[in-house]
Amino acid sequence: MKADLIVYNAGQLVTCASGGQPKRGSAMLDVGMIADGAVAISDGNLAAVGSSADILGLFDTRKMSDGQMIDAGGAVVCPGFVDPHTHIVFAGNRLDEFELKIKGSDYLEILANGGGIISTVQRTREAPFEALVKQSLARLDKMLACGTTTCEIKTGYGLNTADELKMLDVIAEIGRIHAIDVVPTFLAAHAVPPEFKDDSDVYIQLICSEMLPRAWRWYSESQFHNKSPFFCDVFCENAAFSVEQSRTVLETARSLGFMLKAHVDEFTNLGGSRMAIDMNAASIDHLDTISDDEIALLAKSDTIGIVTPTVNFNFGSCEFADARKLIDAGCAVAVSTDYNPGSAPCPSQPMAMAIACRYQKLLPPEAFNAATINAAFGIGLGSRTGSLETGKQADLLILNISDYREIPFEFGAASVKKVIKAGTVAYDAS
Ligand code: NIG
Ligand code: FE
Repeated sequence: MKADLIVYNAGQLVTCASGGQPKRGSAMLDVGMIADGAVAISDGNLAAVGSSADILGLFDTRKMSDGQMIDAGGAVVCPGFVDPHTHIVFAGNRLDEFELKIKGSDYLEILANGGGIISTVQRTREAPFEALVKQSLARLDKMLACGTTTCEIKTGYGLNTADELKMLDVIAEIGRIHAIDVVPTFLAAHAVPPEFKDDSDVYIQLICSEMLPRAWRWYSESQFHNKSPFFCDVFCENAAFSVEQSRTVLETARSLGFMLKAHVDEFTNLGGSRMAIDMNAASIDHLDTISDDEIALLAKSDTIGIVTPTVNFNFGSCEFADARKLIDAGCAVAVSTDYNPGSAPCPSQPMAMAIACRYQKLLPPEAFNAATINAAFGIGLGSRTGSLETGKQADLLILNISDYREIPFEFGAASVKKVIKAGTVAYDAS
C-alpha cells in the first residue's frame, strides 16, 4: 500500500473513534486510545490507523523519504480540535467593556445601552473587507497554534443586508486562504440593530424576506456549496429575540435549505431549547439555564448540546451550564471557545476544555470527545473530521506531552508541537 505520510511512535494515539455517531452519555469516557499508535495518510485522508508495528508493516517505508515519516517520539497524537461556535470576524475591541465588567457592569445591561455587540456592529460596518480579512486571519492563526483544525464562524456584526453579506465574503475569503477549514453560519438575528431599536419585529421581517434569501443565494454560488453545510443561528434571549421571533427566523431558514443552530438559555430560560430541539436543530448552544424537561428532550434528539464555559469564566462567574448533568442524562455534548470580542475572547479549545473539566465537571476523556468528534457533529462534519478513523480527513495534532489528560490539566500551556491538516503540516512549533 502507498502512503504520502506516516506518523508513528505515538505513545498514546487518541482516536476519538465513534463509528459514525456522536458520542453520548458514558460513551464520552472512551477516547479510543491505541498505545504506541500510528496513522498512514494518503491524498489528505487517513489510509490506516493502528499500532506502529501494524502500520509500519503494512506500508513499504523503504521507498518513503525522511520527510514522509514523522516519529512522534512517544508523544500524544490526537485529532485536530473542532471549534463549533465562534464569532471571529469583527473589527475593534471591547477592552473598555472588559474593564466595566471587572467593575461590576452586566453584559445584557451593556447591550441594552447600545454597547456590547452593538459597539462591535458599528466598528465592523465601518471596516473595509481587507481589514476584516487581515484581522480574522490573525485570529485563525492563534486558533491553529492551539490545535484547532476546523471551526464554525458566525456573521452577526453587520445586522443589515450589505454588511452581513460582507461578513459572509470575509468568511469565504479566510476559509480559502487559511489551513483551518471553516463552516459559515448566518446570524443576522444576533441583536436588534439601532435602526430597529423600537421595532424588532420589522427587523425580523427584513431578515426573513430579504437577508436569508440573499444569504442562501450567496451560499449557492460560494465555495462552500456541496462541501460544507450552511447554518442559520439566532440569539434567543431578553434584549435580543423572543422564542416566537427566533422560530420565525429558523422556519424561514429551514425552508430555504439552511441547517439550524440557536443560542439559547445563556442567561434566561425563554423556552428556546425546546423550540430548537423540536425544529431538529444541529446544535443548541450555551445551555446555562436549560430545564430538566428540555435536557430529557435533548438526550432523545440528534441535536448536539454545545457548551461555552469560556463565557462564564470571562464573566468571572462561578455558575456554569451543567454539562455534567447533560452527559449523565445521555446528551451528546460538545465544547466550544465561542471566540468573540465580548463574552469570550478566547482562541483556545484546550483552555475551554480546562475550564469545562474544573467547573462543569467533565473528565478529561469527555472533554476530548467534546472538543473533537461531538464538535464535528455539531457543525455537520462528523463524517469528515473530528476523529482518527480510516477514510476521514487527516486532521491531527502531535502534542508535546505524553499523557493526553495533560491538555485540560496544565491549563494555559502551549502543548501543540505540530498540526497536520488534510495530510499537510500546517503548523510547526519547533
Ligand atoms: O455567544 N450571546 C451572544 N453572542 C455571543 C457574544 C457576542 C459578543 O458579545 O460580541 C455569545 O456569547
Ligand atoms: Fe455565540
